[in-house]
Amino acid sequence: MKRGLSAGRVLDPIETASRDEISALQLSRLQWTVKHAYDNVPHYRAKLDAAGVRPEDIRALSDIARLPFTTKEDLRQNYPFGLFAVPREKVARIHASSGTTGKPTVVGYTRKDIDTWAQLIARSIRAAGGVPSDIVHVAYGYGLFTGGLGAHYGAEAYGCTVIPMSGGQTERQVKLISDFKPDIIMVTPSYMLALGDEFRRQGVDPRASSLKIAMHGAEPWSEAMRAEIEDTFDIDALDIYGLSEVLGPGVANECVESKDGLHLWEDHFYPEVIDPETGEVLPDGAHGELVLTSLTKEALPILRYRTRDLTRLMPGTARSMRRIERINGRSDDMIIFHGVNVFPSQIEELVLADKRLSPHYVLELGRKGKLDTLDVIVETRQPPEADPIAVDSCAKDLARHVKSMVGVSVGVRIADPGTIERSIGKAKRVIDLRPKD
Ligand code: DLL
Repeated sequence: MKRGLSAGRVLDPIETASRDEISALQLSRLQWTVKHAYDNVPHYRAKLDAAGVRPEDIRALSDIARLPFTTKEDLRQNYPFGLFAVPREKVARIHASSGTTGKPTVVGYTRKDIDTWAQLIARSIRAAGGVPSDIVHVAYGYGLFTGGLGAHYGAEAYGCTVIPMSGGQTERQVKLISDFKPDIIMVTPSYMLALGDEFRRQGVDPRASSLKIAMHGAEPWSEAMRAEIEDTFDIDALDIYGLSEVLGPGVANECVESKDGLHLWEDHFYPEVIDPETGEVLPDGAHGELVLTSLTKEALPILRYRTRDLTRLMPGTARSMRRIERINGRSDDMIIFHGVNVFPSQIEELVLADKRLSPHYVLELGRKGKLDTLDVIVETRQPPEADPIAVDSCAKDLARHVKSMVGVSVGVRIADPGTIERSIGKAKRVIDLRPKD
């Protein structure tokens, strides 16, 4: 049941501050961050020295363009703790996300960073229409992934009652939702659809559930999917964005009163949108790659992080802080499939490990019903008249390896030699056949 706009949500003063106030705060925090990174992280110091910039050169927000970008590769090169700007004893928590070559991206938080994170999630829940008396069912995964614990601490900090369900055990999720009667659910949008199906399978009308608000993120989702979820559950479904390198969930969130893109919490992050090819900073309103700089983080200050997420910056509406448009694509090849980050190279490794298969493959994203599908199409090395039973077992083996090594269920189609298009430059590994909506 939808709630309607609840009274008594007291905003942080900065959420309605003037542009000048926000910019002034950003500048002083940016100056602190650059100095903190320069003084305490050898990698940043070397990069800034190489670029000929010193912390005192940051006199205006526009000076940020003088700083070099940071990429996932910088984190990998400094695996595991090399980019931390505080002594290890001051790091209260570690999270990590899976990477291309088995080396995860590791991030750290001081006690204060965790408090800031919790405050930003609390602010996000409030933006989504939540109040402190709400019960929050967290179905993002707990563990090294930032979704579960990030949402959890924020919901607690806001004063809510938290159900730390984590992902999976779909049947039990539905039972607990029916019994504990949560007001809010925090979960990936694709899993929300699976929950809807399970409600119906159990003969329970999802529209009659206690849920009023859903906070969806960690993977791209569309306006059509919002409409589907809102109708299925009779709730408000809001977009929450974030990434582990920059914080985790809670970098930006939609407001229930406007549902017009995600307000980026600019008192803690400085956003830029760049041309992904040239690196040039684009004006507000132009589409490009989101680049984020942390403004208050202690353990892992991050300067101009290239998120690879494609969006544009728009002026504030329900809050003064600028909005980003719903993220629907990435400028690199990473696929987010059912909430799991999948790199084509991970699958490539498994293809190459099977001597029956050629290295010519593509990944095909599609949609069956409401769920995304991922097919690996790979050429066999055998001639076309090869034994169909052997071909079938080869496909099954690859699907099983992908499931156990990458953690996702894929379809495998074995193609005849020479049938997959060869590239003349960079190979295009991912074919996205999902309907654009
Ligand atoms: O997915 C953090 C998160 C957890 C966000 C729960 C929201 C809710 P990572 O695993 O590091 O962190 O993956 C980050 O996921 O760069 C985007 O490509 C994608 N992503 C996250 N939120 C959204 C969203 C978490 N609302 C990567 N819409 C990001 C589209 C999203 N894509």
